[in-house]
Amino acid sequence: MRVIIQPDAGAVAEKGAKVIADLVRSKPNAVLGLATGGTVVRCYEELIRIARAENLDFSQVRTFNLDEYVGLDDDHSQSYHRFMREHLFNHLNFNLDHCLVPDGMTQDYEAYCDWYEDQIRRAGGIDLQLLGIGRDGHIAFNEPGSSLGSRTRLKTLTQETIEDNARFFGSADAVPRLAITMGVGTILESRRCLMLATGSSKAAAVGAMVEGPVTAQVTASALQLHRDVTLVIDAEAASWLRRRMYYQQVEEAERSLTTTRREPAR
Ligand code: GLP
Repeated sequence: MRVIIQPDAGAVAEKGAKVIADLVRSKPNAVLGLATGGTVVRCYEELIRIARAENLDFSQVRTFNLDEYVGLDDDHSQSYHRFMREHLFNHLNFNLDHCLVPDGMTQDYEAYCDWYEDQIRRAGGIDLQLLGIGRDGHIAFNEPGSSLGSRTRLKTLTQETIEDNARFFGSADAVPRLAITMGVGTILESRRCLMLATGSSKAAAVGAMVEGPVTAQVTASALQLHRDVTLVIDAEAASWLRRRMYYQQVEEAERSLTTTRREPAR
């Protein structure tokens, strides 16, 4: 796992957006796995800025979102459908027919979740999966105890997640209790993962994910088994990492290598 520690949340957003923009530039028909939540908002803003400045084309990009609340229709102010339109899709030339967010209003969850998995497979799999992390160490809505081999399915939210997301709904009572979420196994099949985390409230979860054991109690820790994960965090989110000095040394070494490669000896 590559751990990149940035000074602040703005720099995390910039780095994250650059990774996505680099992919779309080199592969215009890339398949992106997308995430919602407060952390990714700034990353999407930065991506929109880069894309406009460079005229980046998103018309052939396909996207699959990680999750959606059960019982919220597309236009509900807190649905992830609406979040994606407002924070990303409406601002660039995405083809909305190719941008899937799980349907929280489906009547047949099992068939729908199988269909969603099948759509990912038919698109050729996810090239880059963007992720945030919950305070309880979840990825998407894979709450503690989720099977590390799980696929897209219905999931009950923990009280901690409900309270964390109450800020968006006005009160904890208004937060749905269930969600449809990609599984941990689905996420592990993406070719590359990019996780962003900022702030001291995420420090314990980030510490457990990077340096703790691989356990279904911290579903983000399953990313230790993935061969290509980039974690971009700010100094606060990195504060529980015992080896943070080492991760910074790795980045410095990487930078000097790139510089040497770029500038041939005279
Ligand atoms: C929700 C989403 C997760 C996201 C998490 C973190 O639980 N389902 O995918 O990682 O929020 O959100 P925030 O960035 O708001 O802390």
